[in-house]
Amino acid sequence: MTHILQPFTPLSAPMFTGQLPFIHNPQRPYIALAPMEGLMDHHLRDILTRVGGIDHCVTEFIRVTHQVYPAKVFRRYCPELDNGGRTAAGTPVHIQLLGSDPELMAANAAKAVQLGAPAIDLNFGCPAKTVNNSKGGAVLLQYPELLQQIATAVRAAVPDHIPVSAKMRLGFTDKELALTNAQALAEGGIQWLTVHARTKTEGYRPPAYWEWIARIRETIDIPVLANGEIWTAEQARQCMSESGSDLLMIGRGLVAVPDLALRIKADHGQITHRQQDWAEHLELMRALIPCLAHLPDKAQTDRLKQWLHYFSLQSLEIRAVFEQVKRQRDVTLFFAGLEQAIRDVKAAPPAAGDFRAYEHKGF
Ligand SMILES: Cc1cc2nc3c(=O)[nH]c(=O)nc-3n(C[C@H](O)[C@H](O)[C@H](O)COP(=O)(O)O)c2cc1C
Repeated sequence: MTHILQPFTPLSAPMFTGQLPFIHNPQRPYIALAPMEGLMDHHLRDILTRVGGIDHCVTEFIRVTHQVYPAKVFRRYCPELDNGGRTAAGTPVHIQLLGSDPELMAANAAKAVQLGAPAIDLNFGCPAKTVNNSKGGAVLLQYPELLQQIATAVRAAVPDHIPVSAKMRLGFTDKELALTNAQALAEGGIQWLTVHARTKTEGYRPPAYWEWIARIRETIDIPVLANGEIWTAEQARQCMSESGSDLLMIGRGLVAVPDLALRIKADHGQITHRQQDWAEHLELMRALIPCLAHLPDKAQTDRLKQWLHYFSLQSLEIRAVFEQVKRQRDVTLFFAGLEQAIRDVKAAPPAAGDFRAYEHKGF
């Protein structure tokens, strides 16, 4: 379908009277934890924000289709609502909504704020077919006017002091509308924009096109968070240099290296930090185990294997541990195997090798 771009009707953006989180915390770089459906739930947010260095989190997307959700749905995605919208470590958790109906998005946003959400984020990046087929996520990047309408409706529905942000990819199949979409959202009155620097079609294949973030920053005058493919402090530097932004959002890199935000901040002289090693990272995973006890065996082992998979992308030792347990489905045998594998790897550390590239499974 070809999109015919209409000129924007200049709308006066609704007034925002609150303070941006970047102003509360003037230290740079500022680092947000990315929303990750099926992975970044409140347990992981709790563990990672206790490690430190994360300035705000965003929930997995809540898909808005036909209704204004009851409070229990918002609390399921964001139990932190009962803790003033913050993790136990005190890090604010913003609620992310995904949908295409401006009125319904606005009504759900208002409800989330009533329940205590400190900020609302709008998802225009999800590439999943089920979501795109029902007109949500990245598919909307073909319709800048609709992006603007959603942003305007949500901005108008939530109190003036609550920030509304949006997260977008560079486009659906190409980058032709990247700047137009960013402008549309800014004109809709959002307070900042997070850009995952790839199109939907580019999926999760490196590289991320950080230089496009610089182009977007030149086009709009709201803050832009740079996102995509930051796994090390060095890549954070590179991203900051190419995008010109010292506001970062990191997803998979923080799952793979839980103290990455601290490493990056230490690299910029914000703090001093002794890097955690692989055994300390596995200790963090141990903290997740009791949180999973209510799940069926396979769901428990799948969750732990998911984290081991991410760890393996940056740690040869954890990759060796993972190789030993990845086929074990029985939860008791899995735990026993894990302990044995850790002992084995400590006794005989793996020789140096290459890190595999991230392979996206599922989403
Ligand atoms: C498993 C998974 C689930 C994701 N779920 C969401 C989501 O719910 N909302 C969203 O805006 N982005 C989602 N994303 C995209 C991430 O927020 C982020 O933009 C992307 O992973 C690139 O950043 P990274 O290279 O730091 O991981 C997801 C990514 C992954 C890998």
